[in-house]
Amino acid sequence: MARKVRPATGHFITLEGGEGAGKSTLAKALAARLETLGLTVDLTREPGGSPKAERIREALLAGRIKPYGAFAEALMFQAARIDHVDSRIRPALRRGAWVICDRFIDSTRVYQGTLGEIAAEKLSALEAVAIAGLMPELTFILDLAPETGLARAARRRRPGEATDRFESETITFHRRLRQGFLDIAAAEPQRCVVLDASLPAETLADTAWEALSSRLPLPQIAPA
Ligand code: TMP
Repeated sequence: MARKVRPATGHFITLEGGEGAGKSTLAKALAARLETLGLTVDLTREPGGSPKAERIREALLAGRIKPYGAFAEALMFQAARIDHVDSRIRPALRRGAWVICDRFIDSTRVYQGTLGEIAAEKLSALEAVAIAGLMPELTFILDLAPETGLARAARRRRPGEATDRFESETITFHRRLRQGFLDIAAAEPQRCVVLDASLPAETLADTAWEALSSRLPLPQIAPA
């Protein structure tokens, strides 16, 4: 039977967590489920998501900004974010798309804030400039033991490919990352949902879908 979906306004969902937590697999699964409801989805990532931001990503992950210090890295992540938000995310939301972004502000808060030890007030001033009020409505925090995540990330690498700027940090760094994301989730329960990322991908997608359906307005499907 033909189905007609009422037009929906755009919605903004982000996925966060440590290395190898399965964010991009989950993002694709959620996008596929939204699309089966007839919704337009824009699946994107940070750093990156727009041509200019992807060039900044390349420099950051190759470690070319690292010698300038954590604050310079934070500036570059936010510079990439400004272009991504302005050229891609806001226009997609205005068109009524569901935007799913693999990493966003919480990664900066944790990697550059908690781990880079940049003062929270400095970082939140930068964040405010970068996002200009565009907060995610729903953020999934994929929680996983760092040993498991790093092993997954290592399996994903092509032969001869080096670890990137952040994968090559110590296990202590990755344990603190995990706690940093959990602290954000505890502080902002209205926005954040913690998921057990050790679950099989399909079960993880089911759990995330349940949370998404209960928190965001999925369209009513009406007979044509
Ligand atoms: P990923 O796309 O493979 O997750 O790689 C992105 C890396 O960049 C990851 O190690 C987390 C890091 N990152 C930050 O340090 N700050 C940020 O604001 C973002 C978006 C990512």
